[in-house]
Amino acid sequence: MLSWDEFDKEDGADAAVASNTTAQIADMNIDKLDQVGGAAAVEARAIAADDSAAVARAKAALDQLDIAEGLAELEGASARVAVDEKRMINCRADLNQLVPFKYDWAWQKYLDGCANHWMPQEVNMNADIALWKGTDGLTDDERRIVMRNLGFFSTADSLVANNLVLAVYRLITNPECRQYILRQAFEEAIHTHAYQYCIESLGMDEGAIFNMYHEIPSVAKKAAWGLKYTRSISDPTFTTGTVETDKELLRNLIAYYCVLEGIFFYCGFTQILSMGRRNKMTGVAEQFQYILRDESMHLNFGIDVINQIKIENPHLWDAAMKDEATQMILEGTQLEIEYARDTMPRGVLGMNAAMMEDYLKFIANRRLTQIGLKEEYPGTTNPFPWMSEIMDLKKEKNFFETRVIEYQTGGALSWD
Ligand SMILES: [Fe+2]
Ligand SMILES: [Fe+2]
Repeated sequence: MLSWDEFDKEDGADAAVASNTTAQIADMNIDKLDQVGGAAAVEARAIAADDSAAVARAKAALDQLDIAEGLAELEGASARVAVDEKRMINCRADLNQLVPFKYDWAWQKYLDGCANHWMPQEVNMNADIALWKGTDGLTDDERRIVMRNLGFFSTADSLVANNLVLAVYRLITNPECRQYILRQAFEEAIHTHAYQYCIESLGMDEGAIFNMYHEIPSVAKKAAWGLKYTRSISDPTFTTGTVETDKELLRNLIAYYCVLEGIFFYCGFTQILSMGRRNKMTGVAEQFQYILRDESMHLNFGIDVINQIKIENPHLWDAAMKDEATQMILEGTQLEIEYARDTMPRGVLGMNAAMMEDYLKFIANRRLTQIGLKEEYPGTTNPFPWMSEIMDLKKEKNFFETRVIEYQTGGALSWD
């Protein structure tokens, strides 16, 4: 804890000046104080005899500063914001005024994300290093899973972060959502850090791992699919405000929140968490478990944003857009099924590609229904019920609270 004890004693000269000034202005009301303060601030601008040329130039330059011009450059009208002016996209209200809140769920997710803070170095990697460097602890199939997933995830979270910061942030015109997006962007940085930390701890070939999204087709296809939806909206000249451009933003949100973060992460998460449950690579698995908790929050936030945009702009959610959104989720599911086959050419860790396919269809049904579309894989059940215990959205709150307590007491996660 920081302490102010050392700083709360006034020394003699300061105290005398302070009490003198206090006596002079003690009887002033607030309006008078405003006047006196304003005049004193202007006086401070006067160039003094002992000012250097640089200081004098700085003071003179500020004389040219036009407050009205500065405010006019800000996004939205510079007036006090009324809650009913706030909108998810194409909002005209001042975006620098966080309150009054309209979307309490966005602010709550920001608070929950902050309470969920963690850092990769807190996870003990010693057992993983011994197992990875040993010759008989892991099968070739298990090694393949670790390498492929670190390869995919080490760049995937950068794609998500770049999309957020360079494309989405500017176009979501709501300050409480932007506050969460800033938190999410930092979490994506922590995730990339976590993968880098695993790769470095295990002494892997960093170039090979970080370049997998160019070199390994099942990884490259997922990255390419996501990037396709960033291209147009990350153009600095892109703006929303027409049906077509608003739909383009909606497509991006569906691609990143529902597919990248909502489907593309799930085969890898399941594989690595399954390892942890078998007491293998428990450090890597613990990192993935923390990441999964963040990701389920990102996904929920994205679903809420998409649904709110639909509520505020029902004309965007027409039959063509619904069909397109369904197709996007199905394409993403197909790519993830292909990734499952590539990473598990035969059974491993009590699972195989066919079981993963069922699981991904189960997940895809959820993504579809979460944004109001119908299931495309009716009757699919979850072959990995233990995954639901970790990530089931309905249980998220309880799960999340448990984790916060564990984090605050400094305890490690247990795989019992
Ligand atoms: Fe992430
Ligand atoms: Fe994420």
